[in-house]
Amino acid sequence: MNILFASSEVWPVVKTGGLGDVAYSLPHALQEAGEDVKIIMPAYRDVLASCDEIKILGWMDSPYGYFTPSIRLLEAKHKAIKTPFWLVDCQALFDRPGNPYVNQEGQDWFDNAERFTQFAWAVSQIATGHVIKDWKADVVHANDWQCGLIPAFLEEHPEPPKRIFTIHNLAYGGHFSEQQFHEMRLPNVWWSSEGVEFYGGFSMLKAGIIYSDAITTVSPTYAKEICSAEFGHGMEGILSARQYKLTGILNGIDDDVWNPQTDPYLPHHYSADQVQPGKSDNKRALLAKHVDHVTDAMMEAPLMGMVTRLVEQKGVDLITQAIPTLINQSDANFMLMGSGNPYYEQVIQKLRDRYPTRVFCYLGYSEETAHMVEAGSDVFLMPSRFEPCGLNQMYSLHYGTLPVVNFTGGLADTVVNVTDETIEDGTANGFVMYSADTNAFIATMQHMLHLYQDKPLWERLQQTGMRKDFGWHNSASQYLSLYH
Ligand code: ADP
Ligand code: GLC
Repeated sequence: MNILFASSEVWPVVKTGGLGDVAYSLPHALQEAGEDVKIIMPAYRDVLASCDEIKILGWMDSPYGYFTPSIRLLEAKHKAIKTPFWLVDCQALFDRPGNPYVNQEGQDWFDNAERFTQFAWAVSQIATGHVIKDWKADVVHANDWQCGLIPAFLEEHPEPPKRIFTIHNLAYGGHFSEQQFHEMRLPNVWWSSEGVEFYGGFSMLKAGIIYSDAITTVSPTYAKEICSAEFGHGMEGILSARQYKLTGILNGIDDDVWNPQTDPYLPHHYSADQVQPGKSDNKRALLAKHVDHVTDAMMEAPLMGMVTRLVEQKGVDLITQAIPTLINQSDANFMLMGSGNPYYEQVIQKLRDRYPTRVFCYLGYSEETAHMVEAGSDVFLMPSRFEPCGLNQMYSLHYGTLPVVNFTGGLADTVVNVTDETIEDGTANGFVMYSADTNAFIATMQHMLHLYQDKPLWERLQQTGMRKDFGWHNSASQYLSLYH
């Protein structure tokens, strides 16, 4: 089966969050299962700079947009990407530095509507054999709002390939104005409440929902949640009406990239059978980056790690509000890592200044530090208000770093709260709070800190998490059945 997998980010060339990881691993798992898969993404400047052997496969002239650019399809080689890698190249739209969605000031690129319209149109042309004569897609798998117009453009073709649309995060709807819709000369037939129109403007995410043959999201619980007003971001009605084609397929994690036995970023390797001293040695190495002398007391005290985009979704404020109380009541230390909203960055910096021997931080994006925080912390904090899937809690389980999570989305599907029953039946692997507020977070942390004293139990919990199979093969076979 020929599969065209479209994403606006792909690790390791461009990544802002978990979508980049998925767009790297899932196509690879599908390829391992014997399918013909091509990954396709925009040719951002950083992508072109990190690839070699770039070949032109074809040209197309777009009839849409403010200007009707000439677009090239490129094939590129990247040393880490094992799947055939195609790029939609349009210099005026994608050849710019930095983040794929926002400018240096953190504002959306002014021409995002045009950028992701042209990308989607180009993908639809490639999928239907209009660019390369001897390759057509049987299935097009489009991800998130940036790819939302792909199923819509394919609707215009007489015999479109099957269209799968995956929602990684409903909070980002790709909303633009009616004026932009008309100025880009998008097909008038799309403009209705049963089409792309959404509260007076248009939504690229809604286009993906409406015009696809199947909608998936990245965990079974989130698939249910998004049909409710609390999590639906206004799309709950159209999603509820389409439950017959909506499924939740849990993401996997890539064992080649996230594996404490082989992770090249870790100075010390370890496994479920032999957690120590490797894990503690990584903790020492992580702390040593922040203090001159790592004391025995610091090594004994539990270290709480966080790695996240600093956005409201992740409940960062619950953590920062709880820290003064937790510092007064316990010996816990904190390693807070993230980038994003400058307000949260300031709050974290202030905590670091107030408790220089208890709170450490890394504000910015760093793969190496993210891996070190996962390995070197004892506990991973992820009290998200909502979480479509979440990869970090799975990475932390795999690294023997017990997660503290809120009961929502993929967190609810992967973390089993420690209770007498779950200890007894051997499924307990983390700590779950049942309401996204600071008090619930503090109470869950107190429970966790109490159990941290019980070393044999703690080790059992670590091993349960580390032995759980979160590999991609399960999820990939679910996607394959859906494609079939
Ligand atoms: P989301 O996609 O909502 O951000 P996920 O848990 O699915 O959440 O995935 C987050 C991914 O982004 C993980 O691979 C995590 O390690 C990475 N990440 C988040 N923040 C940073 C950062 N500041 N530096 C490096 N990696 C980060
Ligand atoms: C989104 C979600 C996250 C999910 C990721 C990959 O960024 O916020 O929960 O894990 O996509 O699907």
